[in-house]
Amino acid sequence: MTSPGTIRRIGVLTGGGDCPGLNAVIRAVSKTAMYDYGVEVVGIEDGYQGLIENRMRHLTRDDVSGILTVGGTILGTSNKASPAFYHAGTDDEGRPVIENRVDQCLHHVEQNALDAIVAIGGDGTMAASMPLIEAGVNVIGVPKTIDNDIEGTDLTFGFLTAVDIATDALDRVHTTAASHHRVIVVEVMGRNAGWIALHAGVASGSDVLLLPEIPFSMDAVCDFVTDRAQHGRRYSIVCASEGAKPVGGKQFIEKRDPTSPDPIRLGGIAEAVSREIEQRTKIETRHVVLGHVQRGGSPNSADRVLSTQFGHHAMEVLAGGHRNRLVVMRRQHCTDIPIEEIAGKQRLIPRDHQVLAAARAVGTCLGE
Ligand code: F6P
Repeated sequence: MTSPGTIRRIGVLTGGGDCPGLNAVIRAVSKTAMYDYGVEVVGIEDGYQGLIENRMRHLTRDDVSGILTVGGTILGTSNKASPAFYHAGTDDEGRPVIENRVDQCLHHVEQNALDAIVAIGGDGTMAASMPLIEAGVNVIGVPKTIDNDIEGTDLTFGFLTAVDIATDALDRVHTTAASHHRVIVVEVMGRNAGWIALHAGVASGSDVLLLPEIPFSMDAVCDFVTDRAQHGRRYSIVCASEGAKPVGGKQFIEKRDPTSPDPIRLGGIAEAVSREIEQRTKIETRHVVLGHVQRGGSPNSADRVLSTQFGHHAMEVLAGGHRNRLVVMRRQHCTDIPIEEIAGKQRLIPRDHQVLAAARAVGTCLGE
């Protein structure tokens, strides 16, 4: 067993929306810590909420065995709390009372003798880690999200599984749309970044892709669908990212949750676009919202490998004596960068991205 330097005990948490591969990362961090370095691992429950409320448990070898392929997270997660944003109840008028609990987190880190925290999460979790980092806690980030929108890494785990699920759904919708000569609009996740829509759309040969990065023209979409129908293609598949918006318009918001540091929940684009297409083209149109189906279940093989690499690297970074790093994948090489470099930033699809060019080249409409 190798010496892990000053690291004897670490906390692991999963924050934000869940995604396939979380357990695979927990397993890889924990097994590397226990087997290679003799480091104790404490599981913090429900993300930063558990650190604030001091809910954590010692993880054994048995706890982290047999979870590689299991969806969700054995630790639970939450996108409702961060050290600087804690929903502590409601005031007399029923408004949420939000408190800063950074000091409480620091106290619990000390009380539980945590030499570092491995925070497995998205851009929200990385931004939420900053006050702890600034107060001297060593946080190692592992980039999670089906949206694939974390700056600094070419890939986040969970994304490739979500793309597989969305592609399968689009393939299935394709045959029923073709049989009934209909348009079907499929809404996929992706708040400000359209990576899932772009990849699943291209993989399924969808006819129209609506992405947050390219505001769409309803005229362009309807002209395209009509033109296809006039040329014998009496059906069309539209793959719409939940975060896409019309030119000069706004994103479609389903609801707002003031008790969450990340209050906006998107949704409704598929229904709105499908109604408009049917009215304007007179072609029967249906819509489907994939929603959390994209986040549930077992990670695919690529995500299992990526999560295992990420988890292993997180512990190697700690054992190497480094602080406050985000594990990343760059040009198929697992490495790490300072968390502060990317906290709060999102990786959107660049206008000159090669997959966009390929989509246009094969005749896909991007609503431009
Ligand atoms: O960021 C991941 C994500 O799945 C987004 O694609 C989606 O908008 C959001 O989380 C949904 O959050 P919730 O699970 O809180 O509805």
